[in-house]
Amino acid sequence: MAEALELALGGLESVSPNPLVGAVVARGGRVIGRGFHRRLGGPHAEREALRDAGNARGADLYVTLEPCAHHGKTPPCSEAILEAGIKRVFFAAFDPNPAARGRGPRILRQASVEVRGGLLRKEALAQNAPYFFWRKNRRPWVLLKWAMSLDGKIATAGGESQWITGAKARARGHSLRRRVDAIMVGTETALADDPLLTPRPARGRTPLRVILDRRGRLPMKLKLLSSSRVAGRGRRLYVSVPGANSVRRLGKLERSGVEILLLPPRAGGLDLGLLLDELSKLEISQLLVEGGAELAGALLKNSMGQEIAAFIAPKILGGEGALSPVGGEGFSKLQESLALSGMRQETLGADLLLSARIDFS
Ligand SMILES: NC(=O)c1ccc[n+]([C@@H]2O[C@H](COP(=O)([O-])OP(=O)(O)OC[C@H]3O[C@@H](n4cnc5c(N)ncnc54)[C@H](OP(=O)(O)O)[C@@H]3O)[C@@H](O)[C@H]2O)c1
Repeated sequence: MAEALELALGGLESVSPNPLVGAVVARGGRVIGRGFHRRLGGPHAEREALRDAGNARGADLYVTLEPCAHHGKTPPCSEAILEAGIKRVFFAAFDPNPAARGRGPRILRQASVEVRGGLLRKEALAQNAPYFFWRKNRRPWVLLKWAMSLDGKIATAGGESQWITGAKARARGHSLRRRVDAIMVGTETALADDPLLTPRPARGRTPLRVILDRRGRLPMKLKLLSSSRVAGRGRRLYVSVPGANSVRRLGKLERSGVEILLLPPRAGGLDLGLLLDELSKLEISQLLVEGGAELAGALLKNSMGQEIAAFIAPKILGGEGALSPVGGEGFSKLQESLALSGMRQETLGADLLLSARIDFS
């Protein structure tokens, strides 16, 4: 099962909103087949491992998520397992997808296959935390990413932020973009940086790009809003409130290939909770938020963030007016501060990446 969990990571940049799944076929204590879910819409891990094994009659199958029994984008894995003549199935975690939960194991048991769940369950739940979170809460897992100097500034006092970190850290940032279903920035960041928000080099799918513009103040010449050639491929979602844009402007956005979502007006900013609900309906299970400080502050203050990726450059920017990653009101009491856990560290050239999960009590 540990090997199956390792194999599952092969799908990190290509399977969301599906979960990461790995599978191993073993006979007499020897591995005879390996597989993982490679891409959304592609074969499931069990089928890949059975194909790799060739003849799997009488063998055991280890899989990190319960085998499915429903017709989704691919035929049910329970059928493939029965056809292959597998004797025992070990799986790590149940699939919270209501179409799946428990059905596969039931069908297999009815056909006299021995099925055992819960092997390395904790590890499997941790590996697919965003998927389980999305299924349970009907809201995307929010990963907040920023690049800052060692003294905790995301831009200079003059507002410059490109680029604080070096090439290796930025490439890692692009790999985070490939993992998620959508990427979002605040209105000020869209204005200041004119970002494209696509993973580069372009490989595989392009996540949905979410552009906040409550007051309809973003100029049409921004890369994110312009016609598709400048904007790159992939879907874009423009989020505003009714009446903030003229009909003509909304029409122009639509002709540029931008989808529009109008949310009810709300004092102080867009209703981010409502926005996350809408994104979940669009099958957005993981959302990467790339700043700025005000947006990050609003999300975190309202318990709408699950993970942090902080890139840290060996630089000092200084300046009282220079922004730090999390703005807004903050937490006036230490007791109220957000606790993070599972902090991991990666060295990327001269920079560091610190990642951690947020523990909301
Ligand atoms: N180093 C980095 O990693 C990094 C990353 C991103 C940005 N930056 C830098 O950060 C700066 C921009 O950050 P910022 O803090 O000024 O602005 P921001 O967070 O990018 O945008 C804030 C704006 O977003 C809009 N908004 C809509 N709904 C909101 C809500 N519920 N909560 C909060 N904001 C909402 C508001 O504009 P409306 O009032 O019009 O709705 C608000 O003024 C730039 O200098 C940029 O270069 C650095």
